[in-house]
Amino acid sequence: MRVLVTGAAGYIGSIVAEVLIARGHTVSAYDDLSEGHRDAVPDGAAFFQGDLLDRARLDAVLREARPDAVVHMAAVCQVGESVADPAKYYRVNVLGGLTLLNALRAAGVARLVFSSTAAVYGEPAKQPIEEDDPTAPSNPYGESKLAFERALGWYGGAYGLRAVSLRYFNAAGASANAGERHEPETHLIPLVLQAAAGRRGAVTIYGDDYPTRDGTCLRDYVHVLDLAEAHVLAVAALADGVASATYNLGCGGDGFTVREVIDTAARVTGRSIPVTVGPRRPGDPAILVAASARVRRALGWTPRHAALDQIIRSAWTWMQRA
Ligand SMILES: NC(=O)c1ccc[n+]([C@@H]2O[C@H](COP(=O)([O-])OP(=O)(O)OC[C@H]3O[C@@H](n4cnc5c(N)ncnc54)[C@H](O)[C@@H]3O)[C@@H](O)[C@H]2O)c1
Repeated sequence: MRVLVTGAAGYIGSIVAEVLIARGHTVSAYDDLSEGHRDAVPDGAAFFQGDLLDRARLDAVLREARPDAVVHMAAVCQVGESVADPAKYYRVNVLGGLTLLNALRAAGVARLVFSSTAAVYGEPAKQPIEEDDPTAPSNPYGESKLAFERALGWYGGAYGLRAVSLRYFNAAGASANAGERHEPETHLIPLVLQAAAGRRGAVTIYGDDYPTRDGTCLRDYVHVLDLAEAHVLAVAALADGVASATYNLGCGGDGFTVREVIDTAARVTGRSIPVTVGPRRPGDPAILVAASARVRRALGWTPRHAALDQIIRSAWTWMQRA
């Protein structure tokens, strides 16, 4: 199939593009490079620089690329920034998303895979989180993603668009060619590895008195290659005619605590990692773990790189090469 990937110069998008190409798809990449990196786009993809809000550019790219399906990953995605500047999040994630949807409608493209997020659930009352649990985002980032998910539902009913929304938990790890390069970096595993490499000072643990097995927050990490595989399966399912659906994308199971991530990183890298303990951050739930039965059952998704050692080793190997 011909697949257009928005946000393909970013961390996850570049790896989704890489895996789609490896599975024989023809990939076009659309990104304004506001956060991503041109050299992250795989060589086998045709690159189109453009903003999601630029309707004329989108129309021209859709005419040239003629995609059978779109994987929509372009977004702004920092929780803290979204609280300080919600306008930016509504503009890019909602207005930009709708501009894309309207361009797809005009071009007759009716299949879309959307990068959503666990942030749509806010601070859930129960764990593991199931797809039908209440959505109550606690920041504009999650709110903007949920607004777009809802728009997909209404566009589906009215215009025949079919969409799979994948609510990612924490993406982590690297492929052989690409890995995480956010600026500023806010994700735990790259921060811990930068500390291991001596590129930053101590890692701060925000609270060690949570009701978890070692007192630190517990999260669900999913290897970016497993995440990418889910997109390949979702694109294929849409081609097979499945109805629109929403899936959690986390490994489920017991998840990993912040201390377990730091200890595993110290073991994998053979370096000592300086740590300080600070107060809890407001809005940080003790535990966020996905129930992932639905995506496993419906798409046949099976994470193959779920071990924390494997996730961290791949990120460390890539970081040392980059
Ligand atoms: N990283 C995670 O753990 C995680 C978790 C949940 C959801 N997500 C979602 O996955 C997607 C990718 O995340 P990522 O970590 O790879 O982020 P990223 O910042 O590395 O990638 C996003 C890409 O979108 C591009 N972009 C931003 N605004 C644009 C615009 N107006 N027009 C065109 N391109 C634009 C950026 O240049 C960047 O290359 C996002 O939609 C994010 O919300 C990520």
